[in-house]
Amino acid sequence: MEPLSTLNTHGRPIILIGLMGCGKTTVGKELSKQTGMPLLDMDMVIEEQIGKPIADIFRDEGEAHFRALETALLRYLETDAGAAFCKNSIISTGGGVVMRPENREILRRLGFTVWLSVDVDILISRTSRNNNRPLLRQPNREEILTNLLALRGPLYQETAHLTLDSSDLDIPAVVRAVHLAAQDYFSTVA
Ligand code: S3P
Repeated sequence: MEPLSTLNTHGRPIILIGLMGCGKTTVGKELSKQTGMPLLDMDMVIEEQIGKPIADIFRDEGEAHFRALETALLRYLETDAGAAFCKNSIISTGGGVVMRPENREILRRLGFTVWLSVDVDILISRTSRNNNRPLLRQPNREEILTNLLALRGPLYQETAHLTLDSSDLDIPAVVRAVHLAAQDYFSTVA
């Protein structure tokens, strides 16, 4: 397969949003590998900054505190130092980042934002592979994901410049679609 061309994003990031298991990390890694753009995983940045896993932050400080950390990181990314930190990168977000209106506004301003929209059946199967997500450490995973999709779907839609229905696409196809759409987007904005 031909490698993807270098993208001129004017230094701005490509941002992947969507529910747990939608493929943000996998697609982000592959896109990063093929374009040479660094991958910045918001969950990982927060874990490094706080010095413990997300699950422990949820357990010790609670979800509201984690949400505040997400907002603080996004605010930082809008500063000069933060812009340098995420320059020309691919940002993989945590699934709940769209819950706060301020976050949604920042994500739209910051770069080209793509919602990887995936059927709930696929989310259920993918998230069953590990147990590190605090919101899914319950037996009724299917019901939780269905409810989260109903709640967050409109928020992802509102935040994204592109909604990519990727249920029937394999990873290389999603990567190509994001790349093509980003090329198009950045050719029209300064
Ligand atoms: C969350 C998703 C997780 C992580 C945290 C909360 C959510 O990230 O940020 O467990 O609220 O959907 P992933 O979407 O990368 O799993």
